[in-house]
Amino acid sequence: MRISFCCTDTKAEPWLEGLRAALPQAVIEPWSPGAPLADYAVVWMPPQQFLTEQTRLKGIFNIGAGVDALMKLDWPSGAQVVRIDDGGMAVQMAEFVCHAVIRHFRELDGYEVDINNGKWSFRRPRLRADFPVGIMGLGVLGERVAQAVSHFDFPVLGWSRSPKSIDGVQCFSGQAQFNEFLAATRILVCLLPLTPDTRGIMNLDALSRLKPGGYVINVARGAHLVEGDLLALIDSGHLSGAALDVFSTEPLPPAHPFWTHPAITVTPHTSARTLREESIAQIAGKIQALQRGEPIAGVVDRNRGY
Ligand code: NAP
Ligand code: GLV
Repeated sequence: MRISFCCTDTKAEPWLEGLRAALPQAVIEPWSPGAPLADYAVVWMPPQQFLTEQTRLKGIFNIGAGVDALMKLDWPSGAQVVRIDDGGMAVQMAEFVCHAVIRHFRELDGYEVDINNGKWSFRRPRLRADFPVGIMGLGVLGERVAQAVSHFDFPVLGWSRSPKSIDGVQCFSGQAQFNEFLAATRILVCLLPLTPDTRGIMNLDALSRLKPGGYVINVARGAHLVEGDLLALIDSGHLSGAALDVFSTEPLPPAHPFWTHPAITVTPHTSARTLREESIAQIAGKIQALQRGEPIAGVVDRNRGY
């Protein structure tokens, strides 16, 4: 069995070492143009040339949860694309979103400003009932986040494509229930995959429907958000701010207004990182399962886009 490694912006050596230890029977090499045909690939944002040349691939393992970069490319006809299925990302996402929700709810940014000015002052406690948290996307990450946020006794709502039932979460689904979901939400969390249906979903119309004082936490992809619409609604006072981990252009350009906006917190696409050891174990386990002819989780549906 031959495995080709083709990951942009990724240090190859530790991955190759880990994959070779987990799959000692396989020949595992970094890809270069004209390389021998492989059976499986481990990829992150590969060039089209890789997928065009590697016509024998049966499985293409993406070392992230989001497959939007792969969706723009043509895949070999016999290949299935497999995303990382949690792999330690769900707990990271849960802690990151809970932190952002709590920082906003408890006004910790305001306290930090006061403390830095040597000011000992209190803000009036707020009611969590007034801060319903609505999570768009109830998949591997969204469901874990919904459960984690509900432990802090916030009202939690969720919205997905197909109907769901999750303890402690008021679930909405489909386009027909989208506006109802938004109208009941004050803190909006985006954990959707980026697809033609979800690109630009956080736009002026949708964000205007949030409860007054609404707050946006985007931890999915930058292109879910129409950045100018967010700024307009913060500046008009309808929204109170945002915590943004992902951006339409990454790295966020130095002159971008998000860097300095007092109501916006920026992080560098770090809410849930791919964990190498967990991911290698997951990919190796799935390759072994496919070799035995068994089904695996996390296979991407090209028509659905995720
Ligand atoms: P997932 O398991 O595929 O879940 C996706 C969820 O979105 C599902 O609940 C799905 O509904 C829902 N959905 C998809 N299209 C929809 C639509 N048109 N309308 C309503 N709901 C829709 O994905 P995941 O593993 O949770 O990851 C979600 C995304 O997080 C990834 O695609 C990636 O872009 C992003 N991410 C970001 C970071 C970061 O560091 N910032 C890290 C990891 C992942 P159904 O359940 O009905 O299918
Ligand atoms: C990170 O953004 C991922 O999709 O895993």
